[in-house]
Amino acid sequence: MSPSLAGQVAIVTGGASGLGRGIVEGFIKAGAEVVIADVNDKLGQDLAHSCGPRAHYSHADVANADNVSTLILETTERLGGLDVMVNNAGISTRMHRSFLEDDLADFSKVMAVNLFGVMLGTRESARYMSTHGGGAIINIASIGGLQAGGGVMTYRASKAAVIHFSKSVATELGPKGISVNCIAPGGIPTPILASSVQGLGLSEEAVDKFVDKTRTRMRNDRPLPHEGTPEDVAEAALYLAASPGTTGAVLTVDGGTSATA
Ligand SMILES: NC(=O)c1ccc[n+]([C@@H]2O[C@H](COP(=O)([O-])OP(=O)(O)OC[C@H]3O[C@@H](n4cnc5c(N)ncnc54)[C@H](O)[C@@H]3O)[C@@H](O)[C@H]2O)c1
Repeated sequence: MSPSLAGQVAIVTGGASGLGRGIVEGFIKAGAEVVIADVNDKLGQDLAHSCGPRAHYSHADVANADNVSTLILETTERLGGLDVMVNNAGISTRMHRSFLEDDLADFSKVMAVNLFGVMLGTRESARYMSTHGGGAIINIASIGGLQAGGGVMTYRASKAAVIHFSKSVATELGPKGISVNCIAPGGIPTPILASSVQGLGLSEEAVDKFVDKTRTRMRNDRPLPHEGTPEDVAEAALYLAASPGTTGAVLTVDGGTSATA
């Protein structure tokens, strides 16, 4: 049975799509009030509408310090608290064949969203939680932050940094009653897959072919015969949101992919 989050307030950054959307829906089912924080206003508002009165949308760019502090302030004033912060928003690096060909043009953007965004979300939520009875912070990393490999090296580096940051800050925040844990998903089909080849001048057909090939590879890499879903990640987030004894952990949700490396 999944834990109950009845009466709790949660924020999910990047909650309008993909894994964030799955976490929002899982938290709503578990009884929480949930703020979907995203830059895609249309998707975020539509999701809030479809989830019912306990779902709220707030525009927030996680890489913007003012946006993040306003998000925390408005959430706590409007909903009366903040118990769970899920720093999920993330973007992919553009795929390259060889690092020698990588112009690193997206380095600053990827680090700003994937790492700085997680650090801002952690700091601002922990500033509130540390004076209001504690809470749970869940940072969405990736098995790309645990396993080496080619193709998207800036992305891998950003996720490795998220893991190291989360473990480090967990040691400071534990005594204040705040847990900080990471989820490291394996490959799960969401819009982020196609975004890694955007801007490479590929036809729509070639992008679809890339996504199909990647999905097949991701399925074949998993010992468990189950294609990963956003719901899998939502289950892990529910566990970490309600677990009183876990901090500084990295929970892989990858069907065993990283166990084979
Ligand atoms: N899908 C996978 O295979 C996979 C695997 C491992 C880790 N992850 C991680 O999971 C997280 C979610 O990815 P996803 O697959 O759901 O991707 P997605 O593209 O479907 O969703 C990402 C969401 O983040 C939002 N976003 C982007 N930049 C933002 C910003 N600056 N501020 C606020 N919101 C922003 C987007 O609008 C979108 O709604 C990311 O951190 C990603 O790195 C995904």
